[in-house]
Amino acid sequence: MKTSYLLNVLLAIALVLLSVKIVFFEKSNTETPAAPQTDSPAEIIDNIFTRTSVRSYSDRQISDGQIDTLLRAAMAAPTAVNKQPWQYVVIKNRATLDTIASRFNNIKMAAQAQAAVVVCGDLGKTLDGDGQAYWIQDCSAATENLLLAAHGLGLGAVWCGIYPIEQRVKTVKELLSLPDTIIPLNIIPIGYPKHPGQQPKDKYDAARIHYERF
Ligand SMILES: Cc1cc2nc3c(=O)[nH]c(=O)nc-3n(C[C@H](O)[C@H](O)[C@H](O)COP(=O)(O)O)c2cc1C
Repeated sequence: MKTSYLLNVLLAIALVLLSVKIVFFEKSNTETPAAPQTDSPAEIIDNIFTRTSVRSYSDRQISDGQIDTLLRAAMAAPTAVNKQPWQYVVIKNRATLDTIASRFNNIKMAAQAQAAVVVCGDLGKTLDGDGQAYWIQDCSAATENLLLAAHGLGLGAVWCGIYPIEQRVKTVKELLSLPDTIIPLNIIPIGYPKHPGQQPKDKYDAARIHYERF
């Protein structure tokens, strides 16, 4: 009598535990998988709309972790036939940043930047023939990803054009010891904005949109 009572109690406990497990399992199965990022879609769109070129920076240091995030964002970009024909040169050395500022009239802001990333095309990794020039679009997509990521992290950055201006390409190649097959597309100085909250330009123009035919 005592044994069967005990067995009944144990059976009841086992049933309760089983029901709890079933309910929990079903719930976790029907829930939407966790979003990979914490930003809501509205915040992501807002990040695109509020990005603007930032050309003056404060003295606040940026971390290696932030630079790593920017490079990961760059390399998440789409590329033709997934060739990923790029290389990135990260510059943190003050003397090199100052040299860039002094050698390029279009990159004077490098003197204030905490770092710069040089986005380069790698001609050894491109498509052959006519498709080779896709490296420019591939590296441009990477650049925009990097700029948006920088803005999302509260940093300021600006795309400073190098390729296709021959003299600029030559100067960067010499300065950074780039092999012949590595072509610098741009230099992106990065730092915390000196004047946070800089307003983006409103470039939307409905007249540039054509439906079905031009
Ligand atoms: C291909 C390219 C080259 C650029 N070169 C430079 C540059 O050399 N120096 C600079 O200060 N900004 C440069 N910019 C940034 C543009 O001036 C800037 O994107 C444009 O004025 C629009 O402003 P926004 O970025 O704030 O929307 C360049 C942008 C692109 C896409």
